[in-house]
Amino acid sequence: MSDLAKTLGSVMCVVGARPNYMKMAPLIRALRGDPAAPRTTLVHTGQHYDVAMNDRLFADLKLGAPDVNLDVGSGTHAQQTAEIMRRFEPVIDAASPSCVVVVGDVNSTLACSLVAVKKGVPIVHVEAGLRSFDRTMPEEINRLLTDQICDVLYTTERSAADNLRREGIRMERVHFVGNVMIDSLRVSLPHAVPPRAVLASNGLSTALVGEGSRFGLVTLHRPSNVDEQGSLAEALAILGDVSRELPLVWPMHPRTRANIERFGLWRLIDAKRLIALPPQGYLETLGLIKDATLVITDSGGIQEETTALGVPCLTMRENTERPVTVDEGTNVLVGRKRPLVRRCVEEILAGGGKRGRVPELWDGHASERIANHLTSWLARRVESVYA
Ligand code: UD1
Repeated sequence: MSDLAKTLGSVMCVVGARPNYMKMAPLIRALRGDPAAPRTTLVHTGQHYDVAMNDRLFADLKLGAPDVNLDVGSGTHAQQTAEIMRRFEPVIDAASPSCVVVVGDVNSTLACSLVAVKKGVPIVHVEAGLRSFDRTMPEEINRLLTDQICDVLYTTERSAADNLRREGIRMERVHFVGNVMIDSLRVSLPHAVPPRAVLASNGLSTALVGEGSRFGLVTLHRPSNVDEQGSLAEALAILGDVSRELPLVWPMHPRTRANIERFGLWRLIDAKRLIALPPQGYLETLGLIKDATLVITDSGGIQEETTALGVPCLTMRENTERPVTVDEGTNVLVGRKRPLVRRCVEEILAGGGKRGRVPELWDGHASERIANHLTSWLARRVESVYA
């Protein structure tokens, strides 16, 4: 580490839930690989804790063990957010970092930002400015509030700066750097696990995805799709329709599985055509996305990964905070509109569907751009203190 790097102190990187890990891993790698860059520490809030939701992804992404784990676990939004804040405060007090880096839009992102801002520690937000304009989504509240209180905002697509400008954020704080998730995708794609191996390791027949046979991939976990019996039954009816045309593989989020059980909806699932798996690792998920004929999802990250890989994506939401995936990529917003889904699936199976193109700066180098910018930003701050 250079003398300059030493004067920059340490950057405290925070992760909490599954979609954070693939965003933070390449950034930490870029910072640790650059001798001029400041030291990093990794704090995990423990919002996600199951082996399947957590440890496997850490291993797949070669994200070393966190320096600190706050072990907060589950709870209501208020409990979870409050508990993260309570446990993060002494950590930041003890470490006095030069800045805190948060990613994405989960409860951990907002909770740690709130603690940092009140301690006068600068906050850096990676994946800033995305807006669904749907304030019933907990993630939208987390995005809006985090961006208001952070000092440096790195964006993944150009629409984000327009959103931030409208919200009164000073544009000199905003930097379009591209998409760190695509950095992870590029690095990991050669190691993606083939779908046949994913099925086999779950004790299932590999015939489903044998040579030439097609399948679709499903992921659903948003409260708007899975928390109410009616909405979840509607989603399952749509998946039932599609599965009659194309077998579907569904790594199930624990929240979704629990609700299917609670509402007694397993009877709507034909297990031979709609194959439920436990949550999968990152390399398994990439393998499934890459080889799928189509993906049906409500995940933010998978909308981006399908666009980067050119795989048709039907998003079971009315809106998206990632409009570039619709404007330029392979994404179509289908909500829970049964006839629309049927039409889109028919078109894709007939060889049609959106081809799309890879958006600007989704080139696998976003983390390096962030590491360079962050290092010089911190150096300017240090200079101004000693000036
Ligand atoms: C969180 C994020 C969401 C992200 C998603 C990806 C918020 C508001 N939401 O939603 O943006 O897309 O992660 O997964 O932060 N659970 C387990 N095991 C775990 C983690 C959770 O069983 O390892 C259960 C919990 O008991 C809880 C449910 O899953 O009932 C939801 O977990 P939670 O962290 O509250 O939110 P997610 O729905 O995962």
